[in-house]
Amino acid sequence: MLIAIDGPAGAGKSTVARALARELGYGYLDSGAMYRCVALLSLEHAGQPPAELAGAAKMEMQLASPSAAPRVLLDGRDVTEAIRAPEVSEAASRVAADPDVRRVLVAKQRALLAAGDWVAEGRDVGTVVAPQAELKIFLTADALERARRRAAELGADVQVVLAEQAMRDERDITREHGPLRPAPGAVTLDTTGLGVDQVVERIAALALACTPSS
Ligand code: DC
Repeated sequence: MLIAIDGPAGAGKSTVARALARELGYGYLDSGAMYRCVALLSLEHAGQPPAELAGAAKMEMQLASPSAAPRVLLDGRDVTEAIRAPEVSEAASRVAADPDVRRVLVAKQRALLAAGDWVAEGRDVGTVVAPQAELKIFLTADALERARRRAAELGADVQVVLAEQAMRDERDITREHGPLRPAPGAVTLDTTGLGVDQVVERIAALALACTPSS
């Protein structure tokens, strides 16, 4: 069983996808973390084509304790915090528009998802990476609420986050390769005003409904 969760930044994808993966005992793939890893590498190795860096990189995600964020390992190095730095977010949005990077990372994501049960989150999981996913969710929320959530997470100013978010949303939606949009057949869930538990329960119920009964 594969559950694809796509949507804009701040819609609650990561929190919801992790909680769902834990509840169902599924693997968890944060495809955004992979774009962030490539962004970090490209900042560290200026001048080297990001797609080459992506191809050579070994990226792993470890769901450690139930409450902690998954650790992200890049070539064995723990980059969990480093990939969340604002300059990496900015660079990630740029490398994600590179079709060669997308080709490399989509192939890596497909290889991971080929076996087992997964909750995979990103922007193009349901449209490009795994259109065959049994359940496709498009998670969204009001722009100001998304900015408020991100600002609280980062300890940043809401208006600054809102402006940056608008720029990244625009880039995600208008890019030629793997643009952000609901996949055909996706269920759109607006999380404005909803708690994480409510969203997780709703998706778990949808997953149950599309599990073939034995
Ligand atoms: O979800 P996130 O903020 O960690 O994603 C980081 C960047 O990668 C963001 O600019 C969107 C992009 N991304 C993408 O283009 N495709 C994905 N499947 C996941 C993320």
